[in-house]
Amino acid sequence: MRARVTAHSRYAIADIDKRLYGSFLEHLGRAVYTGIYEPDHPSADASGMRTDVIDLVRELDTPICRYPGGNFVSAYNWEDGIGPKEDRPTRLDLAWKTLENNHVGIHEYADWAEKAGVEMMLAVNLGSRGLDEARSFVEYVNHPGGSYWSDMRRKNGRESPWGVKTWCLGNEMDGPWQVGHKTAREYGHLANETAKALRAFDSDLELVVCGSSHSDMPTYPQWEATVLEETYDNIDHISLHMYFENYEKNTANFLALPEKLDRYIGTVSGVIDFVKGKKRSKKDVKISFDEWNVWYHTRKQDQVYLEGKDWKYWPPILEDVYNFEDVLQVGCILNTFIRRSDRVRIACIAQLVNVIAPIMTEPGGPAWRQTIYYPFKLASRHGRGTALQLDVDCPTYDADMAAGVSYLDIAGVHDAEAGSVTFFAINRNGSEPLEVELSLERFGTPKEVSHTLIRHDDLEARNTKEAPDTVVPQDGNGVSIEGNSLSATLPPYSYSMIRVGL
Ligand code: AHR
Repeated sequence: MRARVTAHSRYAIADIDKRLYGSFLEHLGRAVYTGIYEPDHPSADASGMRTDVIDLVRELDTPICRYPGGNFVSAYNWEDGIGPKEDRPTRLDLAWKTLENNHVGIHEYADWAEKAGVEMMLAVNLGSRGLDEARSFVEYVNHPGGSYWSDMRRKNGRESPWGVKTWCLGNEMDGPWQVGHKTAREYGHLANETAKALRAFDSDLELVVCGSSHSDMPTYPQWEATVLEETYDNIDHISLHMYFENYEKNTANFLALPEKLDRYIGTVSGVIDFVKGKKRSKKDVKISFDEWNVWYHTRKQDQVYLEGKDWKYWPPILEDVYNFEDVLQVGCILNTFIRRSDRVRIACIAQLVNVIAPIMTEPGGPAWRQTIYYPFKLASRHGRGTALQLDVDCPTYDADMAAGVSYLDIAGVHDAEAGSVTFFAINRNGSEPLEVELSLERFGTPKEVSHTLIRHDDLEARNTKEAPDTVVPQDGNGVSIEGNSLSATLPPYSYSMIRVGL
């Protein structure tokens, strides 16, 4: 099967915001406890943080991490997580039916984020609480001193403020499962008043308002229209979430789901433009796609725990073990974000450690990279610069979710500073290789090319503690330079990164 792709140095989509490669850590299952924090672990540092996990997060190169939820945040008291650990209360976390001892709070998270080299993106509770607790939290985190909450932070051992820029105003407030769920009008009003108060503190904060939890919600996309009508002038981003499932074990349908993601982004972009027009506004609200991933491998078994009455500390829930097929999916999802990087400025893989995550740990044992770690790492490390508007000509197939799905899913990024163009390409055809002719217009002469390939004969192949290197990137040999073009052979069901030095 043949495909032709043209990239032109002047046909650009946008400069990619590095936060497109963000991540997420929630107080959920073993994400925090025995994930990033395990004081008794052989690799733990003086603060109880697992340094083996910090090393893997650094290698992943995710620039920002959202915290502390997720559904958890909607009944969370941030003040429970400050002061001496022995005085912190144990609470019932209503979202995940878990006991929370609050041994990790804002100080511990901030300390971990600094060590892991990630910027903090914090969420405030607009479910069980409201404006007052949100403004106190922001004062605690960002004010230098001389006020009640900032002096409390200093007393608790942190002299200088953390200066957190990006704040989420609640989480999935459209969802009936959310503690403190609201109608769009109620939430929009509360979010707007909270945004005004936070802006009175610091007009430069970047504020994220909740959009729909997914595009099958009955309130979508009217929810976005109503919430934006209430908040447009005072916020910067609208948050969207989407999880990808393959219960029917149909790879062609599964790998077509990013078309649905693309439609979702397109529709919400339209709603943003509609409200902008109504308000005669000059401002552009962007999309923060702050939860996305494959999530279905453990959903049914976790239901048993979530329906029970067995409150435990950090139960092992949402521990999806990813396979090679998920590598292809994660590659297509990241490509969608790159192609939509004019509208999507922030995106967070959900989540980072143990809970539907690229990194897994065993309590007291090792940490390892799941299969999906690799496409994320490659995009995060090499997908920075200017997203290119590619012209793609490739045979297509029809799936349940969309007709005309291109067998070749490809995104291109030009890094002018480094003098490189990088392509991320997925062959969605399981029976034939794709022969791709890639013309590079007005980039100068390609000098060198490298090909990194991820593929496995078995779509179900997984990385486990016992066999952590079952699915890993290898050097590919399928790409050559021919004048100003590249010729690439992409094996059936494969992920490729092609880097061109100019
Ligand atoms: O990431 C797991 C959960 O998915 C989050 O807590 C919630 O926001 C979403 O429904």
